[in-house]
Amino acid sequence: MSQKKPNSMILGTGKAVPERILTNHDLEKMVDTSDEWIRTRTGIERRHIADDHIKNSDLASQAARAALEDAGISAEEIDVILLATVTGDATFPATACYVQEKIGAVNAAAMDLSAACSGFLYGMTLADSLIAAGKAKHVLVIGVEILSRITDWTDRSTCVLFGDGAGAAVFGPAKNGAGVIDTYMKSDGRLTHLLCMIGGGTSVPMKVAVEENLIYLKMEGPEVFKAAVTAMGDAAARILEANGMTGDDVDLLIPHQANIRIIKATSKRLGLDDEKVYINVQEYGNTSAASIPIAIAEAREKGILKPGMTTLLVAFGGGFTWGSAIVKF
Ligand code: ACO
Repeated sequence: MSQKKPNSMILGTGKAVPERILTNHDLEKMVDTSDEWIRTRTGIERRHIADDHIKNSDLASQAARAALEDAGISAEEIDVILLATVTGDATFPATACYVQEKIGAVNAAAMDLSAACSGFLYGMTLADSLIAAGKAKHVLVIGVEILSRITDWTDRSTCVLFGDGAGAAVFGPAKNGAGVIDTYMKSDGRLTHLLCMIGGGTSVPMKVAVEENLIYLKMEGPEVFKAAVTAMGDAAARILEANGMTGDDVDLLIPHQANIRIIKATSKRLGLDDEKVYINVQEYGNTSAASIPIAIAEAREKGILKPGMTTLLVAFGGGFTWGSAIVKF
């Protein structure tokens, strides 16, 4: 097993999900689908949806405050805020700046990061690097999405999959052997067209996007599925091998929660039993950048993820982007 000494560790975690729940049975009344189809194809039973007045930065701030409290760190002690999202409050400024104002992190530099479902893993890689380089002591990493606002609620092939929420983690200097052991990131920009929302950017400005109905997320589900199974399995196997570890050294796999079948394929490749895999896709659906930090916070709250445990995080998303991390709690 790896002897690598970590530079940073997770000091505290928090999550925020909207109260309103949309079940598979609710969706049966909206599009031609069934609870049975959604559960067997995806594992999803319900998802949380933000009411119209709730902003991305509201959910992010709620999760951030919970993470700060859990870490015992004041907002003033945060040096950098990295917020991963594809559904920010505005095109600019960065949603991280709205969060900075809301939580009072007056001493921080704040910026957003766009890596779809891999956003939190990318963010924690940067947080770990900033702390290792001595550029920051405390970094707040947030993964947050309000995907319901870019979902076409008449398209059954996508609207059953996604949900809203936020998760956050405070990173600080490692101590007592706990911390980020390693991280891995990769992208393939040849596959941008398979999962995207092009309307509203500068290639298809918002006015044109509205006229041409390009205002929703589009996904080639089966293509994304195949790529996700391969990339998540590869990312997990690769980081374990690079650190002289096997699935036996992992206490808990915390994968991106997109689809139960992708999660099972990943855990099977690593030879992990079900009790070593954290799954909450049934409750939240795919919350993209928020999915891993929500899962970490929830697993800690439930006492499933305990101090001393070695976790393997793995994600895949639009871009395509993917990655993995080994974190000792
Ligand atoms: N209800 C009922 N039937 C449906 C639904 C639905 N909601 N959606 C599609 N179908 C139908 C299709 O029309 C098709 O019918 P047909 O055979 O008559 O043509 C049939 O079900 C099978 O459709 P597929 O798309 O082939 O179904 P598949 O088994 O591939 O499951 C799914 C679709 C769940 C979307 C799967 O492909 C998937 O999970 N893809 C990956 C999504 C993902 O992981 N994304 C991660 C990144 S997300 C991000 O980055 C934001």
